[in-house]
Amino acid sequence: MSEAWSKSAWRNKPRVQMPDYPDAAALQAVEAQLAKYPPLVFAGEARDLKHKLGEASKGRAFLLQGGDCAESFAEFGADSIRDTFKVLLQMAVVLTFGAKVPVVKVGRMAGQFAKPRSAPTETVNGVELPSYRGDIINGFDFTPEARVPDPARMLQAYTQAAASLNLLRAFSKGGFADIHRVHSWTLGFTEGENAARYKDLSDRISDALAFMTAAGITSEALETMSTVDFYTSHEALLLEYEEALCRIDSTTGLPVAGSGHMIWIGDRTRQPDGAHVEFARGVQNPIGLKCGPSLSAEDLKLLMARLNPRNEPGRLTLIARFGAGKAGDHLPRLIKAVQEEGANVLWVCDPMHGNTIKSASGYKTRPFERVLQEVRDFFAVHQAEGTIPGGVHFEMTGKDVTECTGGLRAVSDEDLSDRYHTACDPRLNASQSLELAFLVAEELQRRREELAREAI
Ligand code: PEP
Ligand code: CO
Repeated sequence: MSEAWSKSAWRNKPRVQMPDYPDAAALQAVEAQLAKYPPLVFAGEARDLKHKLGEASKGRAFLLQGGDCAESFAEFGADSIRDTFKVLLQMAVVLTFGAKVPVVKVGRMAGQFAKPRSAPTETVNGVELPSYRGDIINGFDFTPEARVPDPARMLQAYTQAAASLNLLRAFSKGGFADIHRVHSWTLGFTEGENAARYKDLSDRISDALAFMTAAGITSEALETMSTVDFYTSHEALLLEYEEALCRIDSTTGLPVAGSGHMIWIGDRTRQPDGAHVEFARGVQNPIGLKCGPSLSAEDLKLLMARLNPRNEPGRLTLIARFGAGKAGDHLPRLIKAVQEEGANVLWVCDPMHGNTIKSASGYKTRPFERVLQEVRDFFAVHQAEGTIPGGVHFEMTGKDVTECTGGLRAVSDEDLSDRYHTACDPRLNASQSLELAFLVAEELQRRREELAREAI
């Protein structure tokens, strides 16, 4: 589709999952203000990430994308950012060991505020109110006032995203992420088998570093191991916010979403002729596309043509989220569509969003065993099809929450009420995240061994 694009052209397309702001003047004032603020990320960074995702699509890197389902204003603070970052670093170490390729680290952070919902309203004890749509849109409290969409929330989200990104940049480059500190990323409460495995791995890394230093590897060479590249991502759902932060990149003259390095389109907003696809197609950032069971091969072909007309590697990441036991029903037909078009895509597994259930105790949860199963299914289908499993996408937190059941430090149905803090979907806690990373590392290692055998 080579139709001219403008950052506001989405306004002429059908939109879903977006709020109707009651005060149009207030909305316009906020948009005008945001449009004057600096972008949160720069085009060169988005291009670097695109290049790395292109490498992942060829099996020469692996994507680790994770963070909150919904960032919240109330939970905002340095400790929670630090702890989520620590868990992502730990997971990356485990995956690097298994994959033996660079792990591309992308947070669902510094912008992941707006949420699509399965129903426009919510009923509690006979009272019906508009659904909560994320802190950037309305309030979580179950009151009529809180649920009115308020544009001023966009300014608070911008401020929170800017402060989060500032801290993440400091952690990434300021010494915290130095591989020599591999032991220090462990969180106090992650005792047990996963922590022991991680300790074992960190001991091996420390030994290897000590050996390299003793063997005379210069400190400059080790310097590259003292920092990490860390990127941000979110669902580009609230298009007024996205448009206001869209900028023209002075190097290429092309538009870039300034709200985060990578943006994705949700499973509920991926209509090929809809507003969300229209906005995303015109910005040069890497784009993610959630692929659920209802995505047809025909729509996927249209979406690939619209979102990646130049077939650039790294531009389009397909995030499969079918549910445990269902990848075999859907992934092969979508892989076939990709192959028929000769399209360059990166395949990533989101084992969270197809596995949400209501527990007997009434909480929305995800059985950890099903999460693990979907990851195994994803690898098995790619193995059978001869295609590349290039990454994983999770909802997780560094906090010791009890939101998903199961895991080695088993969370039971009855435990869910203990520390259920999510504003939206249930997240993996630090221990479950690590366990998942070990499983993915094993799958990656098996795959490497398989490829080596085939090469003989
Ligand atoms: C999400 O990633 O939080 C989400 C809502 O995902 P999906 O669009 O795949 O349901
Ligand atoms: Co979610």
